[in-house]
Amino acid sequence: MISREVRIRIPRRTASDNTTYGEIVLADEIRDALGSALVPFPDPAGDIDRSLIQLHVVFSRLPFGQLQQLLDFGRHSDTPGVMAVRNLPTDPHLPPTPVDGGPNLQKQTFVAEAVLLGLSQLLGEPVGFNTEKDGRLIHDVVPVSGGAASQANQGSPVFLDFHNDIACDEIGPYDVSNPDFLVLNCLRQDVGAEAVTYYADARDIMRTLSPQTVRTLSEPLFRLNAPGSSVRDVANGVDVLSAPTQVISRPPDSPEIVISANGMQGLTTEAGRALYDLQLACQGVAHQVKLEPGSALLINNRKGLHTRSQFPARHDGQDRWLQLTYVRRTLWSIQGVQGWPR
Ligand SMILES: [Fe+2]
Repeated sequence: MISREVRIRIPRRTASDNTTYGEIVLADEIRDALGSALVPFPDPAGDIDRSLIQLHVVFSRLPFGQLQQLLDFGRHSDTPGVMAVRNLPTDPHLPPTPVDGGPNLQKQTFVAEAVLLGLSQLLGEPVGFNTEKDGRLIHDVVPVSGGAASQANQGSPVFLDFHNDIACDEIGPYDVSNPDFLVLNCLRQDVGAEAVTYYADARDIMRTLSPQTVRTLSEPLFRLNAPGSSVRDVANGVDVLSAPTQVISRPPDSPEIVISANGMQGLTTEAGRALYDLQLACQGVAHQVKLEPGSALLINNRKGLHTRSQFPARHDGQDRWLQLTYVRRTLWSIQGVQGWPR
């Protein structure tokens, strides 16, 4: 008789310390070798598939242990949910920070873009969404005066709620197309070096919430508001809400969590209170990371929630400038989903 039982074998690391924050610092000679390879690198948008292959070759030369840390970050559930990578190469000359949210077309070298994509594809497949930044693979995250008071990524004076970057499925719980990872690379720090990126891992969050609050967050008592930069019906002031879904899912030792930046609707009084308690818990357990040029941040968008601090913006070409890539572990499951991928 043929057994229909399916057994899944997930490779496990030999050691687990449950640390939710990790950091890699490249040696100067590694940074310089990477930089020498990347300064002549052409704009990767010109031939993205060829560029990604070339970057595979370059980044495969990272020291074995650091390469394993990066690959494990994308592969395992018991690895850190956020990881800083420091002492990366930078562009020899950086033009002014763009002020319109788009790329700076005067940029002559593409070291930052190559670093971003090289790190991203160690975690999975970089992906662009038609509803975000015209489907570009690389987003320039900069203060834009028009977006200053919003919960979108271009604002600066607003402290965002802890959230994931989510995508809007046409109908459903908004969990089909979301990026599995975000990768941020810092090109220019804000003038006062005040901006902080926060990451609260669901494992740490669950340790601080009451069992009853965890139970409430694990029930389908919530609706997520679609991202404002994609399909929210701004013109008519109508929120585009998901189907009722839970905030925390998966086993307690490897939980996943979802909160939309544009607001959450709790369907009961208890659910609303649980959302409030969750944001408080995030503030208590969040890792705080300052990014300066030559540092990147890998964020697991399933294991935890992130946000950034307020910081002043001047719109004079010297503002904080990050680049961001969305990464899917695989693109197979979103083939044919309307609006994406590109
Ligand atoms: Fe975000």
